[in-house]
Order: sequence, then C-alpha cells, then structure tokens
Amino acid sequence: MKKRIRLLGMVIVTNICALNISWAGEEPEQIVIAHRGASGYLPEHTLPAKALAYGMKPDYIEQDVVMTKDDQLVVLHDHYLDRVTNVAEIFPNRARKDGRYYAIDFTLAEIKQLKVTEGFVLDESGQPKAAFQGRFPIWQSNFSVPTFAEEIEMIQGLNKTLGYGIGLYPEIKAPAFHRHEGKDISKAVLTMLKKYGYTNKQDKVYLQSFDPIELKRIDKELMPAMGMDLKLVQLIAYTDWNETMVYNGDKATPYSYDWMFKADGMHKVAQYADGIGPWKPMVIDEKSTPTNIKVMPLVAFAKKEGLKIHPYTFRADEGRIPSYATDFTDMLDIFYNKAKVDGVFTDFPDKAVQFLNR
Ligand code: G3P
Ligand code: CA
Repeated sequence: MKKRIRLLGMVIVTNICALNISWAGEEPEQIVIAHRGASGYLPEHTLPAKALAYGMKPDYIEQDVVMTKDDQLVVLHDHYLDRVTNVAEIFPNRARKDGRYYAIDFTLAEIKQLKVTEGFVLDESGQPKAAFQGRFPIWQSNFSVPTFAEEIEMIQGLNKTLGYGIGLYPEIKAPAFHRHEGKDISKAVLTMLKKYGYTNKQDKVYLQSFDPIELKRIDKELMPAMGMDLKLVQLIAYTDWNETMVYNGDKATPYSYDWMFKADGMHKVAQYADGIGPWKPMVIDEKSTPTNIKVMPLVAFAKKEGLKIHPYTFRADEGRIPSYATDFTDMLDIFYNKAKVDGVFTDFPDKAVQFLNR
C-alpha cells in the first residue's frame, strides 16, 4: 500500500512538472506571437530579446531553427550567418561561392565565437548599415547565437518562475536545403520538442514551415512514428520569393505556391495543418484605403476550413505602416477586428498585448 501511495505521489509530481513544461492551458481567441523575440527592441533571436519578450506576456515566442555542421539546432532567422553576426571578420575564408556564410558549414563551437548584432546590410562602400535605423545600435553590447535547447530551457524556466505559460512557435527553416545537405532538421526539431515535453495538440506549441512537402511529411510520417501530434502551421509565400526550393540532384527550383490561393487551396492545407501564416498583404489588400478595407478571399477560404490565421509581420518602425492604416494600433485593429485573424506575428509584442487589453 505504502509503495502504491509513493507511486501515486510520483505521478502527481510528474504531472505538475509536465504542466510547467508545456502548459496545456486555454488558448485566448486572439493571440500575440513575439516574432524573433522582442526584436523591435533588441537584436533578433538573442536570449535577451526572448527574455524581454517574455516579460511582455505574449502567448507565444517564435524561434527560427537551423542546423550546424555538427547537427546542433540553433536559433537564427537565416540559414546563413552574415546578416546578424561578425562571421566575415572571424572566419574570413569560409564563405561559399555565393558569398554567404552558411550555418551548416560551422560547428556550434565556432558559431558560439560569433558576436550577434542588429540585422545589417552592406552599403556601397562595404560598410554595415542597420536595416532598421531606429532599432538597437549595431555592434553594441554582447550577444550570441542561442541553441534551440537553451531557448526552450529559458522559456520553461520563466514559465516556472513567472508562471505565464508562454508557448513556443518554432519554424523549421529551409528543410529541403538541410536534407539536400544530408541533415534531417525536421526530425531533429521534433526530437527536441518531445524531449522537452511537447507532444500533442494541447501542448503550447505551433510548429511552422514554408515547405508544404515537409509539413505533410511531418504530419503523415514523422509525427506518427514518434508518437507525436503537434499543431502545424503552413506559412505562405509567393513563388517568386524563392522561399521554398525543390531539389532535383543539385538543381533547385522554386516551389509553386499558386495552388494555395485557389478556392480549394485551404481545403488541401487543412488535410495536414491546423493554421496558416500568410504575409499581411495576403490578408488585407494593399490597395485598401482607410475608408475601404478589402479583406482578401484567402481569409474566408481558411476560416471555412477551420484553419487558424496568424499573419506576419507587424512592425511599428517608420515606413512600415501600410497606407490604409493611420498607425500601428489602427493596423492591429484592422487585422484583429475587421479581418478577424486569430493572432499576429509582431516585433513589438508589448504593443499587441496592450491592444488586446491583456
Ligand atoms: O514565421 C513567420 C514569419 O516569421 C515568417 O517570416 O521570414 O520572418 O521567418 P520570417
Ligand atoms: Ca519565422
């Protein structure tokens, strides 16, 4: 009997720990996703940007995930390192023919030597220029590339100490590229999520990708084999962005997204995903005016299929407010209240949380 009571106690403790890990709480009707952390205020995808985002109480914090040469998962928006780090200075001879420094060509130990900064572009004279002039100064302070595990552990730790129950919103970056390089990034991401207690649709995680072929593989093959059933989100691009490539040997051609915009496109997506992540102009017609807001047909198609709609990316920086909105708050009002989206990806999670009056 004593043994039975002790076992029962262990089960209860284990369940409490599981709640701290993945928090299966009620989801609000409309959510806020901290895009790359509080990236409007601190360099994207750094742990400080994620901790700041956490304090702003969004529902989810986003991680873009890529793989290193030694099969480690790191949180980086691009599968190359040169837009947000000093890789060109530290490893000057390691660029590929296209001039880019691919994360997959570097070990985690090498990537950890790099300094992360606010995103930049090189000007005509080759000098780095901040992509967003009003954001955190480039090369200021000291930031590094986090691993996916480090970020999960920080968010779970804060879920324990602050108790907000904030979820993960990881994106598998360029899965076809990774597989072409011999790495199964999707399997690695799922393994990591399972290790940290995220296994089913009630857990606070959305797994996103731009690649429909890979999402179907995750839904139909990988997750069933691993005893998992997570919420999946199909990110939507236009074909000419070259966001998703299809490999035939070494030749890569852009995946055509055209079918997704047709009347039955969302019905097809609903066979393997729980939601979509469209670009803002796919939700509100850019030709809208303040007195004539036009919601795009994609919204009705997705709602009919019961798909969540989480458009990207809401930025309050100068020049980033569409002409049909008077300011950032008005833009949020149009998307949350006129298009009735289920959530937004934003670099300014504090503003969206405040808008929803949380
Ligand atoms: O994943 C949603 C949004 O982040 C898609 O755009 O390019 O910022 O990953 P991107
Ligand atoms: Ca993303």
